[in-house]
Amino acid sequence: MQTSYQMFIETEVPEGQLIVSRTDLRGNITYANDVFANISGYSIDELVGKPHCIVRHPDMPRSVFRNLWETLKNEQIWKGFVKNLRKDGGYYWVYAEISGVYKDGKLVEYKSMRMPMSSEDKKTAQNQYDVLREKEEGTCRAVVSLSKENVDKIKKLAKDEGASEDKVINDILSDTLL
Ligand SMILES: Cc1cc2nc3c(=O)[nH]c(=O)nc-3n(C[C@H](O)[C@H](O)[C@H](O)COP(=O)(O)O)c2cc1C
Repeated sequence: MQTSYQMFIETEVPEGQLIVSRTDLRGNITYANDVFANISGYSIDELVGKPHCIVRHPDMPRSVFRNLWETLKNEQIWKGFVKNLRKDGGYYWVYAEISGVYKDGKLVEYKSMRMPMSSEDKKTAQNQYDVLREKEEGTCRAVVSLSKENVDKIKKLAKDEGASEDKVINDILSDTLL
């Protein structure tokens, strides 16, 4: 029986590899390199044209992205740690540098370069983001072992309702813990 859930599988960005993407001014991906496709589990075709939040991980606090967009609007470079969601539900951590691209002094697009992070930095960032998310959204990460049978039921419910598995679990818990 499979006992661990794929959502928790980390893909490491190999040392020396660079994830590159560019977006239009609204954050829709206009370019993705091979490394971005490999690490995120999407094909380049699946990435291009989609909003960059296609790889947004639910562990990331909203304030991090608010800060990112404010920094870009102030024409500065945003640097920080980001946990991203893979197509298969797994995740990968990156150190990102995101900035505007200017032509004749006019902002035309954004670009992002992402590099591997040390495991020490990943632990620190995860802890900081857990604290922020709890403060901002009142949610925290919980790791529980469920029977395979219940996991399958949750997956089916999520699919039937067109909702995320997180939402289904939260709804069940809210009803039970009244
Ligand atoms: C160039 C660029 C790269 C970005 N890279 C990421 C990224 O790797 N992961 C991510 O979650 N958001 C990234 N964002 C921010 C997203 O556009 C979005 O604000 C974020 O995912 C939060 O999604 P939401 O605004 O729908 O909540 C990037 C934005 C830009 C302009």
